Amino acid sequence: MSAIRPAAVVVLAAGEGTRMKSATPKVLHEICGRSLVGHVLAAARELKPENLVVVVGHAREKVSAHLAEVDAAARTAVQEKQKGTGHAVRMGLDELGGAVEGTVIVVCGDTPLLTGGTLAALAAAHTADGNAVTVLTAEVPDATGYGRIVRDADGAVTAIVEHKDADAEQLAIREINSGVFAFDGQLLAEALGQVRTDNSQGEEYLTDVLGILRGAGHRVGASVAGDHREIAGINNRVQLAEARRTLNDRLLTAAMLAGVTVVDPATTWVDVTVTFEQDVIVHPGTQLHGATHLAEGAEVGPGTRLTDTRVGAGARVDNTVSVGAVVGPQASVGPYAYLRPGTRLGVKSKVGTYVETKNARIGEGTKVPHLSYVGDATIGEYSNIGAASVFVNYDGQDKHHTTIGSHCRTGSDNMFVAPVTVGDGAYTAAGSVITRDVPPGSLAVARGQQRNIEGWVARKRPGSTAAKAAEAASPTPESED
Ligand code: UD1
Ligand code: CA
Repeated sequence: MSAIRPAAVVVLAAGEGTRMKSATPKVLHEICGRSLVGHVLAAARELKPENLVVVVGHAREKVSAHLAEVDAAARTAVQEKQKGTGHAVRMGLDELGGAVEGTVIVVCGDTPLLTGGTLAALAAAHTADGNAVTVLTAEVPDATGYGRIVRDADGAVTAIVEHKDADAEQLAIREINSGVFAFDGQLLAEALGQVRTDNSQGEEYLTDVLGILRGAGHRVGASVAGDHREIAGINNRVQLAEARRTLNDRLLTAAMLAGVTVVDPATTWVDVTVTFEQDVIVHPGTQLHGATHLAEGAEVGPGTRLTDTRVGAGARVDNTVSVGAVVGPQASVGPYAYLRPGTRLGVKSKVGTYVETKNARIGEGTKVPHLSYVGDATIGEYSNIGAASVFVNYDGQDKHHTTIGSHCRTGSDNMFVAPVTVGDGAYTAAGSVITRDVPPGSLAVARGQQRNIEGWVARKRPGSTAAKAAEAASPTPESED
């Protein structure tokens, strides 16, 4: 991208965001796996600024704690009272020691769709034109609430007028201030000192800096964004949903153009951090979160939610919830499986229907096909775990491990009471409760012997339908002709 490296980026995030009607500060609301301010920071970081400062105020403990997590190198400046965007930038510059030499980019913390590319283009135009300030503008269908870009007869920008301060003629203008600017750092600091509060909101408007600089004979420019949706600020939850949809579409479009089949983009949701290889197929109703990666030819969904899960090449994952798992190449998962953290499935292994796994290594070609819980376990290669088995890992106080070897055949409805080990090539009988180690190659039988008490129903339940059925089923004495 552009080689123009700004001296600083100032992110404004001190406002409350009352229209979100939320206990969570506005900039901490999430879309596509990142907070609103996190998206803005990611775009700003693409410019590799020498300094990045976020102006915080409302709920600043929460916002600062979040910033420390997502961008530890970001500095914070505190704006105690929200006295306007101009005042906020002043606080940001104070944190950087006052006037900054070079270009200062100002962005708002609530515009998550803004791209690094657009910021870089703004910085490049600003430098190329030798401007004191360059504002990013856009033509919008509905300009309500935005500051209007006022131009003279030659088309030069003369001022920005806030909606609340605009006259009828100005209100008709559809070109608006995105809230994103490139400034000459020295001139910005000087002009901010001259901003007054004689407006309808009694605030220091950053936008007044344009008129001040122009009045002092400096070059003022505007850069019009190609897509007005990119600069949309989020003020309420309707706009939050719209922005999520737009960003999701952007991510899916990129994936599809890179060779991923998305059967139904409308019901497929992805985080910005999700990665795909070619010829992946994603079926409807699938949500992919965090560090999830789908390798070549993997097929996931429908009805699947994967978080921090790696799916190997050619694997199939159907109607599954998975968190922190690794699915090996050509493995098969689901329908209706739940993979929990620490699950590691080998090549061509299978975790079938109504199976839950946790902290479990399941070897190549091994199958757990039906109705089972496998927790805290290691299973070797090419073993088969019978239906309805439980790895009994918890004694009420501590978790214990079960080890099952390779080429084992365990019966249906087994309980493996950990800690316990089943050796290679061993078998276990159906219905066994395995409490002691099973040596390799043995058959373990651990269940009560069956006893049949004949005639019990006829004696104890005479006349019942059961007794009648039993009588009808019992062999009749041979008739004598
Ligand atoms: C602002 C612009 C307007 C522009 C619009 C784009 C001004 C005076 N107006 O209006 O021209 O069209 O953005 O969305 O700049 N903030 C602070 N401290 C404050 C006030 C605001 O940090 O004292 C932050 C807010 O958290 C927010 C951003 O600045 O991230 C914009 O503030 P907001 O109140 O939303 O400004 P608008 O009225 O939308
Ligand atoms: Ca706003």
